[in-house]
Amino acid sequence: MPVTAVVGAQWGDEGKGKVVDTLARHADVVIRYNGGNNAGHTIHNQHGTFRLHLLPSGIFHPAAQCVIGPGVAVNPEVLLAEIAEVERVGMPTVGRLWVSDRAHLIFPHHILTDELEELARGGSPHGTTKQGIWPVYSDKVGRIGIRAGDLFQEQHLAEQLRFLADRKSAVMRGVYRHEPVEVKTLQDACRRWAGRLGPYVADTHPLVQEALRADRAVLLEGQLGVMRDLDWGLYPFVTSSTTLPGGASAGAGIPPYKITRVLGVAKAYTTAVGSGPMPTELGDATGDRLRSIGQEFGATTRRPRRCGWFDGVAARFAAEVAGFTHLAVMKVDVFDTFETVRLAVAYRLDGRTLQTVPHTAAMARVEPVYEELPGWRRPTTGARHLTDLPVEARAFLRRIEEIVGAPLALAGVGPERADMIFCQEGWA
Ligand code: GDP
Ligand code: IMO
Ligand code: MG
Repeated sequence: MPVTAVVGAQWGDEGKGKVVDTLARHADVVIRYNGGNNAGHTIHNQHGTFRLHLLPSGIFHPAAQCVIGPGVAVNPEVLLAEIAEVERVGMPTVGRLWVSDRAHLIFPHHILTDELEELARGGSPHGTTKQGIWPVYSDKVGRIGIRAGDLFQEQHLAEQLRFLADRKSAVMRGVYRHEPVEVKTLQDACRRWAGRLGPYVADTHPLVQEALRADRAVLLEGQLGVMRDLDWGLYPFVTSSTTLPGGASAGAGIPPYKITRVLGVAKAYTTAVGSGPMPTELGDATGDRLRSIGQEFGATTRRPRRCGWFDGVAARFAAEVAGFTHLAVMKVDVFDTFETVRLAVAYRLDGRTLQTVPHTAAMARVEPVYEELPGWRRPTTGARHLTDLPVEARAFLRRIEEIVGAPLALAGVGPERADMIFCQEGWA
């Protein structure tokens, strides 16, 4: 059975939640491998609309085991609220949702630090989601982080928290002129979380290894997209985890050669939330039209998303770095009323033509080179096969395939579960 990594091919919000929810119908295990509750993965189903921040998007398929892997940063308060939300609509979580004991925990001081640092940047913030993502990963790298498993190691935790409160208080006072971090506050939070997360925190390694041994179908759910990857994204306008399938391997505990498919998820156009270069951004009525038809507002922060044409250079770069074996193109229906559609096939910079993503400062100055294709001006939402699509929509998708260099496996034609075209055997 396949082990499939689902990876964002752009700047995030490509529709990974919908893709994972769709594929999870046949999955035995679904694992979130990176990021934290900066993610907002939207799922529409018979119970309503859900914006999942931490729960794997397989949670609505009761037969699937759902794992929050060691690569994820977990805000326990957000996780508990999300568990309550899905249990309210009748989805069981105990016995099928597992939080790796190796996953790091987000504390209120991480969120505060994120907010204070954005404030300190004055007029040029990074535009983070202010969920404490870089501070928690920075503590992880600095080896002073608290992991989910620590909650159940009383002596070890007490020592960790004392040292942590001391160091964090020094920074809060000295750098931010803010109140110290009280060790008692940390202890109380940990006690509360240990009480409530007990049924979920486990060593997820045996479960994952058993699934691999038994040749079960495994889905690895990524957060964000390659252009916000810590190493390969537009640094410093990136997140603090690895969005690539290499991150899926480490962040879920799966050897690289066991990942049989890497599905790059793109949208038929480009969006971004937060700061940094976005060459195809449209600051005009067409950008507004994409935002309004595509309902492009952040799932986590509700910020309006920056919208623009499909950036083929960035998507091909993502395909190369992540090694997409297949491609999903979502939100094709958003173009249903457009007379023409455009695709960026190269960048121009200082009289040169670029076919790849340059340094962030250069990326801020590139001019996209566009190809224009005719629109189809017919609804696509009812389409269930590629042949149901207007010929112009098929030509548009074929051109994306050519530019990106990966075969099309899925095409999204609406927000509902059923609004998906399976373009190849083995995905339906
Ligand atoms: P993610 O972060 O990659 O999971 O994506 P988000 O959930 O943040 O944003 C994608 C948005 O597009 C969500 O509101 C989805 O419900 C919606 N969506 C996903 N696929 C399609 C599609 O094919 N057509 C339309 N119209 N909406 C879609
Ligand atoms: P999903 O998983 C879109 C953006 C933020 C900011 C940058 C760094 O739903 O695709 P962070 O809070 O991670 O330090 O912010 O990344 N960002 C997202 N943009 N979708 C997301 O998640 C995002 N998570 C973070 O806006 O520019
Ligand atoms: Mg999202």
